[in-house]
Amino acid sequence: MSENKIFLTGIKPTGTVHMGNYIAALRQMRDISQESKVVMFIADLHALNTMHDAAAVRAHTYEIAAIIMSIGFNMDNVLMFRQSDVPAVCELATMLTNVTPKGLMDRTHSYKAAVDKNAAAGLDVDNGVNMGLYTYPILMAADILLYGADIVPVGADQKQHVEFARDIAGHFNAIYGDVLKLPEAKIAADAGIIPGLDGRKMSKSYDNVIPLMAPACELKKKIMRIITDSKTPEEPKDPDTSTIFGLYRHFASAAESAEFAEKFRAGGMGYGTAKQILFEKLDSVIAPMRERYDYLMAHTDELDAALDAGAAIARKVADKTLSRVRRVMLGKK
Ligand code: TRP
Repeated sequence: MSENKIFLTGIKPTGTVHMGNYIAALRQMRDISQESKVVMFIADLHALNTMHDAAAVRAHTYEIAAIIMSIGFNMDNVLMFRQSDVPAVCELATMLTNVTPKGLMDRTHSYKAAVDKNAAAGLDVDNGVNMGLYTYPILMAADILLYGADIVPVGADQKQHVEFARDIAGHFNAIYGDVLKLPEAKIAADAGIIPGLDGRKMSKSYDNVIPLMAPACELKKKIMRIITDSKTPEEPKDPDTSTIFGLYRHFASAAESAEFAEKFRAGGMGYGTAKQILFEKLDSVIAPMRERYDYLMAHTDELDAALDAGAAIARKVADKTLSRVRRVMLGKK
């Protein structure tokens, strides 16, 4: 059933991809790509509302492309490109602004969060808010609608954006007929909270991440830095509140996880040993991916070639949608 559906996601090149991104999002897309078409683009235009450093946008763009090409996607089913290489998305976004109620943008969680923060600080409510942030959901709707995506797998934080894309398509179709496909959000099976080095949710904003493609020595250093309590090796430990186990279970088999948890509960396994086991497990999964990743990062011409080839196909798909939109909105032939 889902074989013929188009799955789509965009990844913003705003920071180093970390283990949390891999566990919660990337590997689901990889699994989906084994059987279905997936559109994976690097949302560089979306990055611009917070990043004003072209060299950083470029570096993170390469990192994401290299990750997509090294973690086991079925690349025959993947359409990968830079968002900015398909100018049609900007034209569609402009068209969509005309059927998008302003109130929808006012209700966007990310915009409201900025407003609330300003209000709490006694600042003008729109302080530091640029129009890229304010109209973010319109560009995102254009991303989704341009490629006729059926399903947009997202984390809970992006659900509202996908619902807005659906609303905007609905407003459009109510005026112009059945032109745009209504997408559906698919909230990834809850991976639970993926803990970072300090035990809080792994997040760039907490500065507690483990980069997915960290070299082995850095990976080991990070893992050794995971904060634990001060229980002695002999004392029993609760795996469910342990960051070490909280990461291990995402990479180990069910049997291995059960064994690890049991060792913690029984007492006798110290944190140093547990960290070493975690490191070896993570490294065994990541090492083959990292090898390909490192190769690609040293051969960015290959990344450019892959991104350019993807963009050429994406532009063709996009132009079909855009000509339908131009026809119904502008009366163009
Ligand atoms: N907004 C998404 C994020 O912050 C990135 C994104 C841009 C996206 N366009 C998209 C995700 C289209 C899904 C579909 O991570």
